Amino acid sequence: MAKTIIEPFRIKSVEPIRWTTRPQREQFLRAAFYNLFLLRAEDVLIDLLTDSGTGAMSTQQWAAIMQGDESYAGSRSFDRFRESVQDIFGYRHVIPTHQGRAAERILFSVMCKKGDVVPNNTHFDTTRANVEFVGAEAVDLVIPEGRRPSAVHPFKGNMDVEALERLIQRVGRERIPLVMLTITNNSGGGQPVSMENAREVSALCRHYHIPLYFDACRFAENAYFIKLREPGYADKTPKEIAHEMFSYGDGCTMSAKKDGMANIGGFLCTNNDVLAQQEKNLLILTEGYPTYGGLAGRDLEAIAVGVQEALEEDYLRYRIASTAYLGNHIAAEGVPIVQPPGGHAVYLDARAFLPHIPSEQFPGAALAAELYLEGGIRSVEIGTLMFGPAATMDLVRLGIPRRVYTQSHIDYVVEVILEVWKNRRQIQGMTLTYEAPFLRHFTARLEPVEQPVAQLV
Ligand SMILES: Cc1ncc(COP(=O)(O)O)c(C=O)c1O
Repeated sequence: MAKTIIEPFRIKSVEPIRWTTRPQREQFLRAAFYNLFLLRAEDVLIDLLTDSGTGAMSTQQWAAIMQGDESYAGSRSFDRFRESVQDIFGYRHVIPTHQGRAAERILFSVMCKKGDVVPNNTHFDTTRANVEFVGAEAVDLVIPEGRRPSAVHPFKGNMDVEALERLIQRVGRERIPLVMLTITNNSGGGQPVSMENAREVSALCRHYHIPLYFDACRFAENAYFIKLREPGYADKTPKEIAHEMFSYGDGCTMSAKKDGMANIGGFLCTNNDVLAQQEKNLLILTEGYPTYGGLAGRDLEAIAVGVQEALEEDYLRYRIASTAYLGNHIAAEGVPIVQPPGGHAVYLDARAFLPHIPSEQFPGAALAAELYLEGGIRSVEIGTLMFGPAATMDLVRLGIPRRVYTQSHIDYVVEVILEVWKNRRQIQGMTLTYEAPFLRHFTARLEPVEQPVAQLV
């Protein structure tokens, strides 16, 4: 059998992308205050800002959309959505939300109060912000390998179980309303969590009577990594693996914009009847009635089909291989990346890429700006700009939208990154000219630092 892994789909509808010149991009970047979130999407050639909500839907999803039942209450689309989600996740209550952060806000508002502590392998930006918004403390407890970009480990997203137990003993179980496990670990390089680790974390949580929730955004990619890397799982289907994983928890938050293969949507699941009631009451106040939760019936249909498609093996094989293709091609030329490549993204290690730029001068933001200038590629900084002093790494994430770009697009991205790598000594740090009080990276304004930077020797 041929070894080349091809895109397991053919293209039915195309969307043109627009070339720009370097002088144009310089102008666009200045107008966007060197923050790629502030660019117009049409001025971007290859958009790797995020894999969230940017995927292409399948013919089955578009067909399902036509079946959308837009009734305010009790719609058939909600039944199909709940049945499909329960078929994979297995939790008693499924509460739709307009996206993942709405599920987070409701979960933390109901479960947490000021002074509480929420451990996670690594909180994502919105998760951390929503924990902190209710006055609780977000603590990241990923294993030490997960904090070192070049360290190679099959499950760098794992929680440090001993550190978790020390934290529970130090602050007391009463102050920890829940523990979270993010699969895969987005802020930590898109790295997976092993089944063994989930089992251990679950056992510890049960011992201390603390509920365990999954941040399940990329549950299908995590399942496939387990199939590839964890002994005993090679012959199991991704769905069987996902089932087992979720059986160790009490509920989850989910952004359906990732492994829900939809352009919008999310949900919150729980096995706890009392919490579910409180969550639905809050949902009605801010999102919508519990059979639509801020979504249209057609969105629920797209998610019902999408969560199942995300678990198809042909798709996952291509997905994981194509992300690795990008990571391995640039790493082979010496570009420092988080190793091994993640499931949904490749992360450039900006501190190692630009050692002449200190963290306070945002090496990740500087590198992301340069990738745009060089080739019209949009990426995102995950580091000091996003997390402030809590950042342990300065990364630039190249998030790969699902089923959108082909291998030649990725070959182009490789070429651009290698060109920037060659000229890395010319890149200057950045300084902030405006920042919002939270989630500052979305609206921050930056400019290059004035003084010439020290040249690398
Ligand atoms: C791990 C993780 N959790 C939560 C979220 C929030 O989801 P949403 O963007 O749908 O609000 C994201 C989104 O990027 C994520 O990657």
